Amino acid sequence: MDAETVNPMNLLDTLNRPLRDLRISVTDRCNFRCVYCMPKEVFGPDYQFLHRDMVLTFEEITRLARIFAGFGVRKIRLTGGEPLVRKDFPKLVEMLAQIPDLDLTMTTNGALLPRFADELKKAGLKRVTVSLDSLDNEIFKAMNDVDFPVEKVLEGMDAAKAAGLEPIKVNMVVKRGVNESSILPMARFFREKRYILRFIEYMDVGHTNGWRMDDVVPAKEIVNIIGREFPLEPADPNYRGEVAERWSYKDGGGEIGVIASVTQAFCRDCHRARLSAEGKLYTCLFAVKGHDFRELLRNGASDEEISHKIESVWSKRADRYSEIRSENTVPLPKVEMSHIGG
Ligand code: GTP
Ligand code: 5AD
Ligand code: SF4
Ligand code: SF4
Repeated sequence: MDAETVNPMNLLDTLNRPLRDLRISVTDRCNFRCVYCMPKEVFGPDYQFLHRDMVLTFEEITRLARIFAGFGVRKIRLTGGEPLVRKDFPKLVEMLAQIPDLDLTMTTNGALLPRFADELKKAGLKRVTVSLDSLDNEIFKAMNDVDFPVEKVLEGMDAAKAAGLEPIKVNMVVKRGVNESSILPMARFFREKRYILRFIEYMDVGHTNGWRMDDVVPAKEIVNIIGREFPLEPADPNYRGEVAERWSYKDGGGEIGVIASVTQAFCRDCHRARLSAEGKLYTCLFAVKGHDFRELLRNGASDEEISHKIESVWSKRADRYSEIRSENTVPLPKVEMSHIGG
């Protein structure tokens, strides 16, 4: 296909899926060591994080983001690792906020939000999603594995709210036997707060977290647990291909979401691409291999050449990992979540 003859907005993959959502990991580092994401046995003191030169600069990220916007990308989610540990991160937000008509958002563990929320809002960030797996300090600390207290994450969320980074969404990864008991307390608490709580089925991302099917609490079970105390009804998706299935409290107390990527795969409408901190494009959260854009950027490629590569990668895309997950796919050497964000 010739770059000149293709209307970039019509770019489709082999399953007719457009490209609408770009997740950009700005660093592979994190100040937490969540057991399901960066287990200490692997991400310990000897772990080799990306060297500074290997990580895309803000200029490189912004240039790529603009080109992606030309293909119809309408949402950019900044992720990590933990995006707020990247030096001068609000500066990047300011640069990306110049791209018109973008839903510019971020997934964070919240630890540094009290310090940065106002600055991020001023820089042009629209909203945030904060991860929190329990309100119980013992459970939460065992999960983040750096002794980080719940109160500080709640302070981060409140700082985001005060700054106007709304709606605030909260992501809770549910792992059987670890934080199941936190489902109801979390629902009660965030219902009052009116933050949108989303429960995520624990996934076999990467290959270091020792995932087993028995660790997954199915979304249906979560909806039943909450529905017994607060009756729920299904709500329509906000947009086609939304990851979370929405449920509203019947009494008007807001909504929750469940992200059932294990028990009810949603690959059919998946319009997400992921860019790693070192400039590799991944067309699936469970990809084994990425497509390098850093070399193109650093070898003086034109926007047309970069567009060509995006077209070439996306038009060949056939990923639908969650739909074909099996015992054989679980041990594949998949990219780590901390390299490509959520
Ligand atoms: P909104 O922009 O608010 O609609 O959020 P989102 O649903 O795009 O959000 P978010 O990035 O917070 O996704 C929540 C979680 O869902 C992620 O952290 C992942 O765990 C999971 N998830 C997101 N996208 C995918 C995907 O494409 N495939 C799979 N299997 N899981 C995904
Ligand atoms: N399964 C499900 N969600 C995960 N996340 C990280 N690792 C996993 C996993 N194995 C979530 C985090 C955060 C987002 C970036 O991804 O909790 O909300
Ligand atoms: Fe860090 Fe988020 Fe991974 Fe936890 S889930 S280790 S906060 S990147
Ligand atoms: Fe998309 Fe891959 Fe997730 Fe399926 S498994 S929804 S293709 S990222």
